[in-house]
Amino acid sequence: MKGPTDFGKDQARALRPIVPGSGERLAACTIEPDPEEMRALLHAVTERLIEFIGQLDTAPAQVMDDVRERTEKLRHGMPKFGRPAEDVLDCLFGEAIANGNNSAGPGYLAYVPGGGIVHAAVADLIAKTLNRFVGLWAGSPGLVQLELNVLRWFCDLVGYGPESGGILCSGGSMATFSAVFTARRRKLGDDLARARIYTSDQAHHSVRKAAVLAGFAADRVHVIASDENFRLDIDALEKAIQSDSDQRPFLVVAQAGSTNTGSVDDLGGLADFCDLHDLWLHVDAAYGGFFLLTDHGRDIMAGLERAHSITLDPHKGLFLPYGTGALLVRDESDLRAAHAMTADYLSDIVDQGANTDFCMISPELSREARGLRVWLPLQLLGYDTFRGQLLEKLRLARWAYQALLALPDVVVVSPPDLTIVAFRARFARDEDALNKRWMAAVNARRRVLLSGTSLNGAFAIRICILCFRTHFEHVEMAMRDLAEELTILRDHKS
Ligand SMILES: Cc1ncc(COP(=O)(O)O)c(C=O)c1O
Repeated sequence: MKGPTDFGKDQARALRPIVPGSGERLAACTIEPDPEEMRALLHAVTERLIEFIGQLDTAPAQVMDDVRERTEKLRHGMPKFGRPAEDVLDCLFGEAIANGNNSAGPGYLAYVPGGGIVHAAVADLIAKTLNRFVGLWAGSPGLVQLELNVLRWFCDLVGYGPESGGILCSGGSMATFSAVFTARRRKLGDDLARARIYTSDQAHHSVRKAAVLAGFAADRVHVIASDENFRLDIDALEKAIQSDSDQRPFLVVAQAGSTNTGSVDDLGGLADFCDLHDLWLHVDAAYGGFFLLTDHGRDIMAGLERAHSITLDPHKGLFLPYGTGALLVRDESDLRAAHAMTADYLSDIVDQGANTDFCMISPELSREARGLRVWLPLQLLGYDTFRGQLLEKLRLARWAYQALLALPDVVVVSPPDLTIVAFRARFARDEDALNKRWMAAVNARRRVLLSGTSLNGAFAIRICILCFRTHFEHVEMAMRDLAEELTILRDHKS
């Protein structure tokens, strides 16, 4: 297989023979399937997807058998000719997804599960087939309006007023990057000297990454120790700022649902603090934000509406597919001031202010009509369906917490503020190593997948319940596997 080298080195010379001479018609080279072909392709894919979803409940939570050899077999070059859809789908559904974590399945209790509701996939199919340009309002005013509706719903949900706005982006990391960049432009302009960002040791690493990408040296991020509940310690923050009197503090990043434990910082207290010290407050609510649909979420995140900017991840708490993040800002003009830029070739299409051009408030120009991925599921299901799901997950996490407390010599390191429980078993010695063995033994049963972290300097196992397919029977199964494997481990040690 030669691939792209077929095209030849000297493009000018290669092109000359294919330019038609006078009077010659250029034969059409078509990619468009005819209606029957399109129907057949969509039907074949639909059948595969129905089959895929049907087996998720019993599929292993993780498969890593011969992973290198099997993955190596998938390495191939660019095909010169097409092949039948069924062959390609066999490769995709049979081989390419045969290994790895089953992150769409109900046993996925590791890290922070994403969603993947099929309604959003249907929206993507529509958006990508329509392929309307939404970077500028005039490109597709109707689709831009639907996306603006979505952003307004999100702003209303967090309690923002009419000046607020936001963007949909690919995920929480990109949202936080744009937030740090926006805060930087608003608070520092072009002078980054001695600038300081503050966040807790429980912040997601995307905060440090965002700072570096936004132009700050890594040591410009001052990491504050969290308190005994894994929340940003405001007294320690005060001391840090005092000790940085020769620096230029400008940004505090708080957590509304940390990755390790789901802890929610004291957002009201931090808003008071940031107002007093004239600091930009960004809240990373990537995991926690959509719990605002519940009373418990609204209680625990009181004060969120006072943040200058907020990261949300609809691909977590709204159960959408990966690739759906959001940044909201209390004052949309800050987003515009940071990102607005135009060019001669856009002068006849850029809006003069009455309407929103997404390219003027975000880093992107061309992109998919991402809003449909949120708009369509909410139209089809209504937000009450999502509230119901989130309530179920909150209750399941409480149940798991109680079940863990009942296990002999198991310590819950952090009870669930939301839907993450972190815990470890007590052993006479080698506690970290034995807890890792315990988790590995549970994962080896392949019914659920758990992940670990480090809390207070020791290894802890985490359960994060957020997959929309996870229900009581799956959490009960996880508890059974944990109890049985702990007994086996203890019997073996004694
Ligand atoms: C609290 C928190 N913030 C940010 C992120 C990063 O989001 P993403 O993976 O969508 O970039 C995560 C990811 O799990 C997270 O849990």
